Amino acid sequence: MSHFARDVIPLANMGVLILPDAQAVSLAAAEAIEAIIREATATRGRAVLGLATGSTPEGAYARLVERHSAGELSFRDVTTYNLDEYYPISPADPRSYRTYMHRHLLGRVDIAPNRAHLLDGSVPESAIAEHCAAFEGWIASDGGLDLQLLGIGRNGHIGFNEPCGLSVDEARRLRTRLVELHPVTRADAVRDFGSAEAVIPTALTLGVATILAARSIVILATGSHKAGAVAAALTGPITAEVPASLLQSVAPRVTWILDRSAASALPGLPAAWPPIN
Ligand code: GLP
Repeated sequence: MSHFARDVIPLANMGVLILPDAQAVSLAAAEAIEAIIREATATRGRAVLGLATGSTPEGAYARLVERHSAGELSFRDVTTYNLDEYYPISPADPRSYRTYMHRHLLGRVDIAPNRAHLLDGSVPESAIAEHCAAFEGWIASDGGLDLQLLGIGRNGHIGFNEPCGLSVDEARRLRTRLVELHPVTRADAVRDFGSAEAVIPTALTLGVATILAARSIVILATGSHKAGAVAAALTGPITAEVPASLLQSVAPRVTWILDRSAASALPGLPAAWPPIN
């Protein structure tokens, strides 16, 4: 929370920053990421970031690229691990998260190619478990994640950890693995795949346990279509049916950055929050 200068309000012991619009969310997210890079590289000589895809973080990545192009920010000492990837998918497929990350950030900053890691949608089926375990091993050998950046699905998913009937304890122990996508997630993916039939229905995702272990977690949401999931995750019970609610169990390490629309179903906020300065 020290990465945010202002206006962070506590909710379920988590920090919540509510901003006027999506652009302000992107700027605040980029500021937080930059602060974490600076702090971690100053104290440990490197920063290890868990990154997310989707439309929500695009603006934050654009801002980080701008900072890099202006000579203000280097990724020389940064290592990244991405949250998820469709499976099976070719790394060169324009719809792969590998392509997304290359286009929005990794191909536009000075990160070393062997420090930018994504789950590989082209490993043979027989090697999935080994690949997922190796990915977690790389994160551990890098000293764990300084930051996990997250978006949230309309169904409350984080990464591709989808709503499910597991107990909270079981859900909190989920590791990196192959998953089936929830119908709401598949419906939302039509935007990227063009038709329902074309959506790849399975994916690899970092596990809940790995996400919750990050030293700092920043979760972004913009738009009224996220308001229900945001309210359930922040103010509802901790349940595997709303995977983002599991963040409540590591509350002091979590900051939500929301625009007014995504925050609109939160109970008890002043009608005109955030205050106009
Ligand atoms: C995808 C990703 C998630 C992301 C979510 C929200 O399913 N796997 O990591 O947070 O969608 O996407 P968007 O930001 O486009 O709403």
